[in-house]
Amino acid sequence: MEIESLFGGIYKNRICLVTGDTGFKGSWLVYWLQRMGAKVVGYALEPITSPNHYSLLERNYISIKGDITDYQKLSKVFSKHQPEIVFHLAAQALVRYSYQNTAETYNTNVMGTVNIFEISKNTGSVKAIVNVTSDKCYDNKEWIWGYRENDAMGGHDPYSASKGCAELITSSYQKSFFNGNEKLLASGRAGNVIGGGDWSSDRLIPDIIKSVENQTSVEIRNPFATRPWQHVLEPLSGYLLLGWNLLLGKKEYAEGWNFGPNLDNNLKVNEVVNKAEKYWDKIKYRVSTDIGTHHEANLLMLDCSKANKLLKWDPIWDFNITIEKTILWYKDYIENNQINTENDLISFIEHAKNKDAIWI
Ligand SMILES: NC(=O)c1ccc[n+]([C@@H]2O[C@H](COP(=O)([O-])OP(=O)(O)OC[C@H]3O[C@@H](n4cnc5c(N)ncnc54)[C@H](O)[C@@H]3O)[C@@H](O)[C@H]2O)c1
Repeated sequence: MEIESLFGGIYKNRICLVTGDTGFKGSWLVYWLQRMGAKVVGYALEPITSPNHYSLLERNYISIKGDITDYQKLSKVFSKHQPEIVFHLAAQALVRYSYQNTAETYNTNVMGTVNIFEISKNTGSVKAIVNVTSDKCYDNKEWIWGYRENDAMGGHDPYSASKGCAELITSSYQKSFFNGNEKLLASGRAGNVIGGGDWSSDRLIPDIIKSVENQTSVEIRNPFATRPWQHVLEPLSGYLLLGWNLLLGKKEYAEGWNFGPNLDNNLKVNEVVNKAEKYWDKIKYRVSTDIGTHHEANLLMLDCSKANKLLKWDPIWDFNITIEKTILWYKDYIENNQINTENDLISFIEHAKNKDAIWI
């Protein structure tokens, strides 16, 4: 399969800066970019979990360790490597952690984003910036409808508020600085992402996997919370599609875009665990009586009609394939020491081909 020709071949030999390359989504994005022949430069903190997907993959790119709040260091990276496109994924990405480390969360997610935009503004080589925020950027009204891109920003917990802020900053930079044809900025708002290689705290799939490793039952805190679950490759296909359009100078794409599953993949936590159990009989769970002291959203869905109609982006895998690929990735890693990242990427691309995805 000719992977280099995906997305019109735009990424081949292209210098792409990926912040957050040591994280879950960043490590998958770098893997995909490298398979398309991109020249990747990563910028992030050292990975904090062990194991982690970044360290398990063979690396053949420049991966710089630094803090995005360190303006001077970040500036030097831009001037030395002269990226043409920036995928900004570095963030403090955990809701529960944000309650204990609130200032750090705002500093990283808000001022870190300002730093990326400021330096991009001052670096001539940068033509396109894709800012990764979250479905949690919306003012959550706990209603049954999916949020649209023109709904109000908000955020109850510090993490969500920081992503709402990052969106407001994006909008301001789009209007004030990136409004010509020289540099284009867009944001991607994705839902709950799953897939192999995530060992973060307080996330459902990593919690399930850690309990299998410890031979215990996973405690489910909020069994009836509904979330837009999707495989990590889905939003990444959206970010890459956005990047392609921005690099071609298409100004109409320099906006905010939701990337989420079809409505029938908005499942409750207990439904996800029930499906996960089918692929690995070692998964056991019980519902926790401790619901915690901090507020967590119960109902959160995205309306992705804008991305479906205008960007021609569509999800590739339904939830059954998504959970199968996810659980089998960990099962193969834990039982056979095998990493399925390449197989999952190829399978995703093949399914996308069958679906006539625009980026094929
Ligand atoms: N995982 C999800 O379900 C999900 C859903 C919606 C949005 N997102 C967003 O996607 C992006 C990536 O999320 P993830 O799941 O890969 O998170 P992750 O925690 O696995 O990775 C975060 C990355 O950011 C880096 N980072 C954190 N603070 C930094 C700092 N101060 N300076 C430099 N680098 C720093 C980390 O080193 C790591 O590489 C984040 O912006 C997150 O908010 C994630």
